[in-house]
Amino acid sequence: MQGVKYLYEVCEALPRSGPGGNEHTERAFNAIPARFQEPLILDIGCGQGMQTIELAKISNGKIIALDNHSAFLDMLMKKAKKEGVEKNIAPRNMSMLDMNFKDKSFDIIWSEGALYIMGFQNGLKKTRFLLKDNGFLAITQLVYTTSNPPDEVLEYFHKEYPDIKNIQEQIEIIKKENFNLILNFTLPKSVWFNNYYLPMEKELYILNKKYKGNKEALSMFYALQKEIDFYRKFSEFFGYEFFIMQKTGS
Ligand SMILES: C[S@@+](CC[C@H](N)C(=O)[O-])C[C@H]1O[C@@H](n2cnc3c(N)ncnc32)[C@H](O)[C@@H]1O
Repeated sequence: MQGVKYLYEVCEALPRSGPGGNEHTERAFNAIPARFQEPLILDIGCGQGMQTIELAKISNGKIIALDNHSAFLDMLMKKAKKEGVEKNIAPRNMSMLDMNFKDKSFDIIWSEGALYIMGFQNGLKKTRFLLKDNGFLAITQLVYTTSNPPDEVLEYFHKEYPDIKNIQEQIEIIKKENFNLILNFTLPKSVWFNNYYLPMEKELYILNKKYKGNKEALSMFYALQKEIDFYRKFSEFFGYEFFIMQKTGS
């Protein structure tokens, strides 16, 4: 992707790299009906790790925090140290496309806003292999939150993320891939703004000045601002859905 290093520069200045928030991570974790002593958790596409640190605090588990951008992992571990949970987190700098963990390794797999990188359905297949029998998967995924989004929204996603589906269609895929859905809920608009788009807008203001005259950087920043504006206009039609599910069969 053109200008990806500028995208990283923006994201590295933010509390997280996608919509989400600790109370929602906690709600999803509490929906898991099993009580583990010390679960082994894989956090795929952890980014700077807001949810990783929250999970470390509430799960008493060991978490492998996996991301292919090493600067995020450095940020995560620095914060984990500050919060006293660094012993619970092992950073792993690798692509989720190259994961080589043994089958049935994990009690819980987590992925906020990142599983889609493998493709939603393919991501379910892959994580199912990595989960122990009866293990749990918790993810957030971009979805249509209404059945009839307007043409402008359909056209936008046809270009930006053609794999987008509505909540019911995602649930059908979850069932088809042999998971039992435990809970799903839509993240509120506040987490898009408070933890993500408002800090991003502030950063874009600074970086637009820093990179004045740099076409590649400015066009990346422009695209991000357009994304924020699009969300402001059409947020009633799409959002992030948390899906918490359990592996069935073996
Ligand atoms: C939308 S962000 C979500 C980050 C974090 N989970 C959060 O909610 O703040 C997606 C993350 O996936 C990571 N990523 C992108 N492609 C990846 C890949 N092939 N393997 C592992 N991580 C990847 C990015 O570096 C980024 O941290």
